[in-house]
Amino acid sequence: MKDYTATVRQNEKIAENIFMMKLSLHGEPEKIHGGQFVNLSTGDNSLLLRRPFGVCKAEGNEITLCYQIKGEGTLKLSATPAGAQLKVLLPLGNWFDLESYKNVVVVGGGVGIFPLIAAIREYCDRVNFHSFIGFRNKNAVCLLDELEKSKTLTVVTDDGSFGGKGNAVQAYIQRAGEIEADAVIACGPPVMLKALKSEIASHGIKTPCFVSLEERMGCGMGACLVCVCKTADGGNARVCRDGPIFPIEEVQL
Ligand SMILES: Cc1cc2nc3c(=O)[nH]c(=O)nc-3n(C[C@H](O)[C@H](O)[C@H](O)COP(=O)(O)OP(=O)(O)OC[C@H]3O[C@@H](n4cnc5c(N)ncnc54)[C@H](O)[C@@H]3O)c2cc1C
Ligand code: FES
Repeated sequence: MKDYTATVRQNEKIAENIFMMKLSLHGEPEKIHGGQFVNLSTGDNSLLLRRPFGVCKAEGNEITLCYQIKGEGTLKLSATPAGAQLKVLLPLGNWFDLESYKNVVVVGGGVGIFPLIAAIREYCDRVNFHSFIGFRNKNAVCLLDELEKSKTLTVVTDDGSFGGKGNAVQAYIQRAGEIEADAVIACGPPVMLKALKSEIASHGIKTPCFVSLEERMGCGMGACLVCVCKTADGGNARVCRDGPIFPIEEVQL
């Protein structure tokens, strides 16, 4: 992990409230794996804390992040022009290690799709991905060309305005019996991960499942304990350092 200065190469809207930012790092980073994240300055010195974002794509010293405008920091980022310089700490956290799997189900919702896309990009030459992706509505749909690197792709929206109507967990559970998956990877809003955990349990699905969690963060590197989540045995884990990816049975959702 290292702190880099980066030049913004591109920062454009790709869907309603969603931006894609391409950054050139001043220096060659260590390998960045799908599921890892960065802690990015907002360019506004009055906002002390950096913001965590999953890496969507990493090639050489170029990284691509996609973000939804949520509050002050992401609003500020969305107005950042090409040529601006930001500080970025990377790579952070663990990653989706799919070395020993062949058929992997991907369950993604909302901004959770971005780190999943990096995992699909990393392994699509040797892993068959069966992706179930949910968006709020057709205006939120983005990056289908990346998701289509999956062997099969099912897109659903909450209101049925694009693809099927429903959510990604329902879409997966309906097809779970047909896919001989040896792992499931998931990232999305807490309500989606909670539903996934309960559906897996109620359908007796034993496939190993790995979820990427989102918690408010401070340092992003294990020191401040802002990001602590509860583990299934009643203990604590730091999402930034022990995660963000955990076996689903090991965390309370
Ligand atoms: C590991 C990880 C990866 C993420 N990847 C992405 C991604 O690829 N794309 C994307 O759009 N969003 C992602 N998020 C969520 C993103 O970090 C927040 O939406 C963002 O920090 C909001 O900042 P803000 O200043 O606009 O919002 P505000 O609500 O004004 O933020 C105030 C503070 O709360 C923190 N905060 C607010 N919401 C979150 C949140 N959901 N998670 C963590 N910290 C939060 C901010 O960092 C900031 O310190 C990720 C979060 C984590 C933990
Ligand atoms: S954000 Fe500081 S310990 Fe995780």
